[in-house]
Amino acid sequence: MFLTHLECTSCGLRHDWSRLQNLCTKCQKPLFAIIDLAALRKLDCFKQSSLQGREKSLWRYREVLPLPANVEPVSLGEGGTPLLHAKKFGENVDLWIKDESLNPTQSFKARGMAVAVSMAKHLGAINLAAPSAGNAGGALAAYAARAGLEAHIFMPRDTPRANIVECRELGAHVTLIDGLITDCGAEIARRKDAEGWFDMSTLKEPYRVEGKKTLGYELAEQMNWQLPDAILYPTGGGTGLIGMWKAFDEMETLGWIDRKRPRMFSVQASGCAPIVRAFESGQKTAAEFPNAHTVASGLRVPKAIGDFIMLRILRQSNGGAIAVDDEDMVRAVREVGSSEGLFVAPEGAACFAALKSLRATGRIDNGERVVIFNTGSGIKYLDCYE
Ligand SMILES: Cc1ncc(COP(=O)(O)O)c(C=O)c1O
Ligand SMILES: [Zn+2]
Repeated sequence: MFLTHLECTSCGLRHDWSRLQNLCTKCQKPLFAIIDLAALRKLDCFKQSSLQGREKSLWRYREVLPLPANVEPVSLGEGGTPLLHAKKFGENVDLWIKDESLNPTQSFKARGMAVAVSMAKHLGAINLAAPSAGNAGGALAAYAARAGLEAHIFMPRDTPRANIVECRELGAHVTLIDGLITDCGAEIARRKDAEGWFDMSTLKEPYRVEGKKTLGYELAEQMNWQLPDAILYPTGGGTGLIGMWKAFDEMETLGWIDRKRPRMFSVQASGCAPIVRAFESGQKTAAEFPNAHTVASGLRVPKAIGDFIMLRILRQSNGGAIAVDDEDMVRAVREVGSSEGLFVAPEGAACFAALKSLRATGRIDNGERVVIFNTGSGIKYLDCYE
């Protein structure tokens, strides 16, 4: 294994990887897993060419992931999703769709939970808890079941019904809260010590982001190690965006890609757009968004602990942040469905709607290569169509 230690994303303090860790013990900010890339660079069996023939899952990048080499991952076949060339959508741009709805439990949340549950189990956790807007709960329930661990999931009462039923049928303990995901997180923080739960909240443990970073490795590999001009990513807690950026830096250190980075665009809902507001007003962190509401439940995150990391990435990459109205999102579901044959989640649909406005305002030019992440399946959101 090439994981050496954990490092605080804010104050840089080192932490040991070999015990269960949540936030930085000094400043309460997220920790990143640090991989010994210099050692990996020298390794003959970990080159771009040596990936060919490996299993079609995120574990093909095993060397840059945590988990000792002799420990079997908790896996349901996550990752290895298709990158599809858009047939009709996105006039005059070279548009690609990374379809994450083909993961176990039908969303990209499987990537993060596969790695985080594998590590939590290895480090001795027995009871796992997470707040969820829906899809993360389903993924945690599935991987906990697979690992033989208990899952305690706290979801807002208005979470799509499919997510709630899914968690229960996967054997999780589900608690519905009258409030938002932040209220669910607060409830876990209040009870976890007494109950003996390990907190698996987004960026409050270090390994979900490691699973999510495989989005970046996979995209680079599928694009023959040439990253696109722009990436549109539906942003709630931000692990996908943050994970991909980490992957790009790691791949540059490995000598797999050059310094060029895509412009990263964070797409949010107009009813809950803390990152868009903070980006536009030049803030380094994002204030809690009041009265958060949107049908895209994954985007209903009024305050994210990784806000300062996301804002840094959006600015460094010369990208931006853009909000989309719910009606435009829902309209985009049918447009994408009928033109591309994909029943996308409203979060994914938001990116297609955002692409139109980025084109109209000239922030994406003719002929540019653009990647949209469809992070989940529309089938979990039937409540939106009643
Ligand atoms: C379908 C979907 N897309 C996007 C998001 C936001 O993801 P992230 O927390 O990585 O920003 C979520 C989170 O729940 C989701 O379920
Ligand atoms: Zn710190």
